[in-house]
Amino acid sequence: MGTDHVGLLKRRALLSASAGAAMLGLVRPSPLQASPSHRIVVAPGQAPLTGPRRRATDVWAYGGSVPGPTLRVRQGEPVSIVVENKLDQDTTIHWHGIRLPIAMDGVPGISQPPIPPGGSFVYEFTPPDAGTFWYHPHANTLQQLGRGLAGALIVEERSPVPVDRELLWTIMDWRLRPDGQIAGGFGNRMEAAMSGRIGNTVTINGVVPTDEPVRAGERVRIRLINAALARIMALRFEGHRPVVVAIDGQPCDPHEPKDGRLLLGPAMRIDIVLDMQGQAGRRYGVIDDYDEDLEYSLVQLAYDTAPPLRSHPLDAPVRLPRNPVPEPDLASAERRELVLQGGMMGGGGMMGMGGMEMGRAAWAINGMSMTGDGHAGMDPLATFELGRSYVLGLRNDTAWSHPVHLHGHSFRVLSRNGAPVPFNQWADTVFVEPKETVDVAFVADNPGDWMVHCHVTDHQTAGLMAVLRVGKPGKG
Ligand code: C2O
Ligand code: CU
Ligand code: CU
Repeated sequence: MGTDHVGLLKRRALLSASAGAAMLGLVRPSPLQASPSHRIVVAPGQAPLTGPRRRATDVWAYGGSVPGPTLRVRQGEPVSIVVENKLDQDTTIHWHGIRLPIAMDGVPGISQPPIPPGGSFVYEFTPPDAGTFWYHPHANTLQQLGRGLAGALIVEERSPVPVDRELLWTIMDWRLRPDGQIAGGFGNRMEAAMSGRIGNTVTINGVVPTDEPVRAGERVRIRLINAALARIMALRFEGHRPVVVAIDGQPCDPHEPKDGRLLLGPAMRIDIVLDMQGQAGRRYGVIDDYDEDLEYSLVQLAYDTAPPLRSHPLDAPVRLPRNPVPEPDLASAERRELVLQGGMMGGGGMMGMGGMEMGRAAWAINGMSMTGDGHAGMDPLATFELGRSYVLGLRNDTAWSHPVHLHGHSFRVLSRNGAPVPFNQWADTVFVEPKETVDVAFVADNPGDWMVHCHVTDHQTAGLMAVLRVGKPGKG
């Protein structure tokens, strides 16, 4: 490419920064209200999950909607969120993936006393990282999340990648009865020792989706959030090549996922940039084929008949600015291993629990089962020195897959069964397959008692959870 051409492109890029923005509606940080304070009422409500023609589903909702209101906040600026509990049971909110002080982490008994019915709590924190996060209860999570309590929390970049539009897909999974109401039977012990409560109805932004209208030639950023209790998804965009730009809110080297499939376990987020290279007027499926026998089309990209917005994909960088997550020092890092144990085998017996009585626990980490949603008086499984780097080896000795989540930190995903993980991936929830060991590394820079647990909610509440202490006892 000659220098003249480069100069021309540069000039064109400059032009499009002003004129283009106005003409194409390029996404800019949305204007925020003067005060970055929010109020969320948690209460029973109704949601038209299956469309306007059917009876609405009785749900529990944040701010009267499912999912709850999308909170858009700015990186490095304080937010305050008043949460009022109008349920008839205790609740809390956990700001999943945000690196915040332990007192704001929403774990009952550890971070705060639960918010009683009629009570309220003010969450205040300053998100250090830009990215796609979400919020959900950390009390009676199986029912509260399963009945609709979840919402997106978007921390805006100071300089977002230029795209024509941004979409947010908060994906939830429901087990509905034929009359459209939520089926009971939460916490079924057999299910808890297997795949967890997988539903029969998947919604995007609170409705069973049919079409996502798109325009040929446009570039769209899609923020994908898996807010399901237990459903693991592998999304394929027929006829398209999504580029992953962030995982769990943390930017990575932009890359096309292996086999074009986006693996999205419960609580995981992926930001993609998608050039709409399909044909005007046509439709393309977004397929979830995680379970090959139960493959289904989640939604259709429905192309407008208008001619393409541009003839070539937008010539603009898609790399997001790095967040200020401290880089672990691998040379001095100490290694700790967490062994995931338990669950049903193919034959029906329990695995690797060392003769442990099943009781309420179906799972364990290093032989210890912490059940429920978090509570006071739990001994830490391991203690980490404040400011030191650690490698955590997550070893899955079970026959099931586990999205393992650590509170209060983001970690670098180093390797899977010894093979280096490419593209500089960071995460707060990492998928660990059966018989796999995933090494992650982090700087233990956030003092407190932090939960580490599987985010298949039934697994968490049935024992696949532990406390990791950062700093000295009593300091958390
Ligand atoms: Cu998103 Cu302890 O959870
Ligand atoms: Cu979390
Ligand atoms: Cu699990």
